[in-house]
Amino acid sequence: MLRKFSGFALVLALLCGVALAADPVHTLNVLDMSAPYNQAIRPLLIWTLVFSVLVLLVTGGALFYVVSKFRAEEGDNKKADQFHGNNAVETVLLVVPLAIVAVLSILTADALAKVNKTPKKDTIKVSIDGWQFWWDFKYTDLGVRNSNELIIPVGKPIEMEINGKDVIHSFWIANLGAKRDAIPGQKAHVTLTATKPGIYYGQCAELCGASHANMLFRVIALPPQEFESFVSKAKAFKPTVAATDNGRKLFEANCAACHAVQGTNAKGVAGPDLSYFGNRITLGAGLWKNEPQKLHDWIKNSGELKPGSKMPAFSQLSDNDVSEISKYLYSLKIDQDFSKYPTL
Ligand code: CUA
Repeated sequence: MLRKFSGFALVLALLCGVALAADPVHTLNVLDMSAPYNQAIRPLLIWTLVFSVLVLLVTGGALFYVVSKFRAEEGDNKKADQFHGNNAVETVLLVVPLAIVAVLSILTADALAKVNKTPKKDTIKVSIDGWQFWWDFKYTDLGVRNSNELIIPVGKPIEMEINGKDVIHSFWIANLGAKRDAIPGQKAHVTLTATKPGIYYGQCAELCGASHANMLFRVIALPPQEFESFVSKAKAFKPTVAATDNGRKLFEANCAACHAVQGTNAKGVAGPDLSYFGNRITLGAGLWKNEPQKLHDWIKNSGELKPGSKMPAFSQLSDNDVSEISKYLYSLKIDQDFSKYPTL
C-alpha cells in the first residue's frame, strides 16, 4: 500500500517538476482581478472554495475520528450498539447543505446578472468565428477584419458575438474572464473589458479536433488613442508593393482562394485574413512567434507543423517562390508596433 502511494507521489512530483521547469510564455490566470468579468465572479469563486474546504475538513475529520475511535480491537467480539435515527444529526445534515446551496445560488444569480449585463452604448461590436483551427474577428461597425489577433482598446466594453463555423469551439481568455462556446448555427454573446494594456493569451476551450490544443489566439489591448490610430490605419490599409510584384502575383495565384488581403484581388474567406500580416506577433493561430523560417515551413507543409491543418501543403512551390511569398506577406504592414506591449 505504502509502496503504491510512494510511486504515485514520485510521478506527481516529476510532473510538477516538468511543469515548473517549462518556460512560461504566458500566465493563464482566472484569478486576474484586473478584469471586471473576473471581479464579478470573485465572491462566488471564493465562497465555493471556502465551503468546499469546510465540507472536506468536517466530513473527512468526522470519518477519521469515527474510524480511529471505534476501531475493533483484536479479540473484541462485542456487537456494536444499534440504534435507529438521530433527529439532531439529521436536522444538521439537512439544514447545512441547504444553507450552502442557498448562499451559492444567490451568489451565482448575482454574478450572472453582472456578467450578462450588456452595456447600452459606447461599445465596440466584434463578430467572432471559430474555425478548425483558427479565429476570425470582424469589427461589425468599424468595417475592419483581422484573424487570430483581436485588437481592442483598454477601458471600452467589447460586445462579442461568437459563432462556430464547422464544429463546436469555445472562445476563452482566462485573464479577461470571457468564455463562450462557439456553436454552429448559434450566436453566443459576451462583453469583455480590458483594464490594462498588454497581450492576453486566448485558447479554444472545447475539444474540436486534432489541433484543438493548437487553436490559440491573442487579445492585444491598446491605450484608447493607439486603438483609434489602429482603426484609421487598418481602414486605409492597402499593400505598398505593386500588383506586378512577383511575391504578390504568386500569393494571388496560390493563396487567394482562401486568404484575403484588403485592397487586393485576394478575397478568400475560408482562411485567416492576412491584411497587415507583417504586424502579427504570432503565427499558426497564436502557436509560434511570427518568424520567417516558421512561415516558410508553414507554407510548405502546414499539416506537418500543426496536425489537422486545413491548409494544403504547397511543397510544389520552390524555396525561392515561398521566400517571395513570405517577403510579400511581411510587407503587408501598418505603421504600428504591437509587440512592445507586455505579455499578460
Ligand atoms: Cu477549437 Cu478546440
